[in-house]
Amino acid sequence: MKHLISPTDLTVSELSGILDLAEKIINDPKEYSEACHGKKLATLFYEPSTRTRLSFEAAMLNLGGSILGFSTADSSSAAKGESVADTIRVISSYADICAMRHPKEGAPLVASYHSSIPVINAGDGGHNHPTQTLTDLLTIKNLKGRLNNLTIGLCGDLKFGRTVHSLINSLVLYEGIKFVLISPVELRIPTYIKEQVLEAHNIPYEEVDILEDKMPELDILYMTRVQKERFFNEEDYIRLKDSFILNSKKMSKAKDDMLVLHPLPRVNEISTEVDSDPRAAYFKQAEYGVYARMALIMKMLEVE
Ligand code: CP
Repeated sequence: MKHLISPTDLTVSELSGILDLAEKIINDPKEYSEACHGKKLATLFYEPSTRTRLSFEAAMLNLGGSILGFSTADSSSAAKGESVADTIRVISSYADICAMRHPKEGAPLVASYHSSIPVINAGDGGHNHPTQTLTDLLTIKNLKGRLNNLTIGLCGDLKFGRTVHSLINSLVLYEGIKFVLISPVELRIPTYIKEQVLEAHNIPYEEVDILEDKMPELDILYMTRVQKERFFNEEDYIRLKDSFILNSKKMSKAKDDMLVLHPLPRVNEISTEVDSDPRAAYFKQAEYGVYARMALIMKMLEVE
């Protein structure tokens, strides 16, 4: 595993290796506190982030390594016109591994072609977010006890939501997975994912535009934010932004052990009254992001 650009870069066996290591870290974090001593992680973030950047940095610090990087394109020489290719050539001599977030789909892939250190895609436009998927899988595995035989509702902006694109790509590798795709018609999952991922793996799925009716069937409800930054037209965003709002009344229709996940940040799509419901797992999910990224860094630097 030289680079992690797409969730499809990871086989089920590699996913299991990362998730198993993450669980070992959760159970005994001190055992890993010097695992990356002397190693440096560069975080190259051309787009805003709270969880991904800071959990990557916390992960490397927890492993005894060091961090460097930038958190906005404006504070890097991208503002002077430097290309991603030139930036990564230089960073390759400053760090041992890098995590890159970029608003343009494919930018981390381009970086990987010019890099002599492992490049991790930390989110590229509306395309992929493979380390969020590792976080999501670790959360589901730990809180549900399995990654197979699950009915998963994906709700919200399925067109631009890179977290759902990546999660689908990985979950289709497991047995007994069924998806309920809940979105306004304008924000449906892209056709290439339906044809090349869901149908290619014979995964049952249905597309609906009402959440309530489907609540009783779901084992997992994965809520997503309508991605304001990906819209070309503000009127469309305003019209669609509050299409789905999960509240206690809707939660009353769900199974007692259904989990609510959300990659965060949330805007209005989950009412804060749901936060105290024991089925609300999105803050725990953000916590698991550190462990998933610790395990990934160790695997990619081959320091286990
Ligand atoms: N889930 C996620 O990617 O959050 P950030 O945008 O805060 O990194």
